[in-house]
Amino acid sequence: MPDKQFNTAGPSRPEDHYMLNPLARVDVDDVLALIEAKRYFVLHAPRQTGKTTVLLALMEHLNAQGRYRALYANIETAQAARGNVERGVGAACEAIAMSASIYLNDRRLDEWLAQHSRSTHAESLLTRLLAHWSQLDPARPAVLLLDEVDALVGDTLISLLRQIRAGYAQRPQAFPQTVVLCGVRDVRDYRIHSGGGDIITGGSAFNIKAESLRLGNFSREETVALWRQHTEATGQVFDEAIWPELWQDTQGQPWLVNALAHECTWKDKALRLNRAQPVTLAHYWAARERLIQSRATHLDQLTDKLREPRVHRVIAPLLAGGQALWDPLPSIDDVEYVEDTGLVALRPQMRAANRIYARLIEQVLGRDVQAPSPTA
Ligand SMILES: Nc1ncnc2c1ncn2[C@@H]1O[C@H](COP(=O)(O)OP(=O)(O)O)[C@@H](O)[C@H]1O
Ligand SMILES: [Mg+2]
Repeated sequence: MPDKQFNTAGPSRPEDHYMLNPLARVDVDDVLALIEAKRYFVLHAPRQTGKTTVLLALMEHLNAQGRYRALYANIETAQAARGNVERGVGAACEAIAMSASIYLNDRRLDEWLAQHSRSTHAESLLTRLLAHWSQLDPARPAVLLLDEVDALVGDTLISLLRQIRAGYAQRPQAFPQTVVLCGVRDVRDYRIHSGGGDIITGGSAFNIKAESLRLGNFSREETVALWRQHTEATGQVFDEAIWPELWQDTQGQPWLVNALAHECTWKDKALRLNRAQPVTLAHYWAARERLIQSRATHLDQLTDKLREPRVHRVIAPLLAGGQALWDPLPSIDDVEYVEDTGLVALRPQMRAANRIYARLIEQVLGRDVQAPSPTA
């Protein structure tokens, strides 16, 4: 069997990738209690934190238990529709129906959509689809895990949230027992700009949310344990001096932890072809430089974020040495937006979230920034 790899693209799968148990990253008992209590809630975290991996594992776990019918659906394709409700809601419904046939081998949602999508208003299509799905098997209530919800914007997002709210009172017989909304932002923070320039907050279109769970980074122990899976599988050892560096560089940010490991164990061909050769600190440093220069998609997307004026405005005081002297004060909206990118940590004092992001900010904005201290 070929070696597993450290994953740098998309959700992790146990058969292909070294990985930590995704269900240990959220409090599964808490999640089950929320489902039991028929709550709707939000799971959010910056990009590349492992949200999709957690949702897929949760779907499998729930379906294996057999009490619920859980379905994961990624509604990112609705993004292209922007504020066009007809197309946006249609795309979201199609994504849900397609997921049911892929993951649950259930084509009945596809069939229902084919029959009803033309004769039903977009404003109620999602409510009716979910009602139909929920009624198919009264003995096993439906649980919907919706991913990339904040890819939707404007009226499309409002309509989606309203349609979920519209069916809420009929749960669990005629609507999902639980809907989990997953994305980078908390629904509370969805600032939806309606056509007239007014701002409707997501919370007001979706005032049934019980709770939001934020997925965090790996701990130090988890970070090292993940890398050691490679040693267990191949015998190739890492110099212990790497661990403190790795922690400062990543603070456990899941994609960074994997990408650095992938550089060391796979992209470094000499190390890949000779597993008897230990990975030294010098190898690690070279791998880190390659990663930073590579402008991998994730780093590239963060670079784009840094160029947005509202992000720049919040981060600029970092460049002045970490004393958060904002003048004028940015809006809370902008501060939360920047915090949700994961680029910076605002507490206890404002600083780059990790040493690699500090380097990125330096590169893009052109000055030194405060990184976490070695003891942090
Ligand atoms: N359980 C895990 N164990 C190890 N690495 C993980 C795990 N979950 C996610 N990752 C890392 O995070 C990356 C992004 O995972 P993904 O689930 O797509 O995150 P998100 O949906 O938050 O963007 C993966 O490519 C992998 O590097
Ligand atoms: Mg994802």
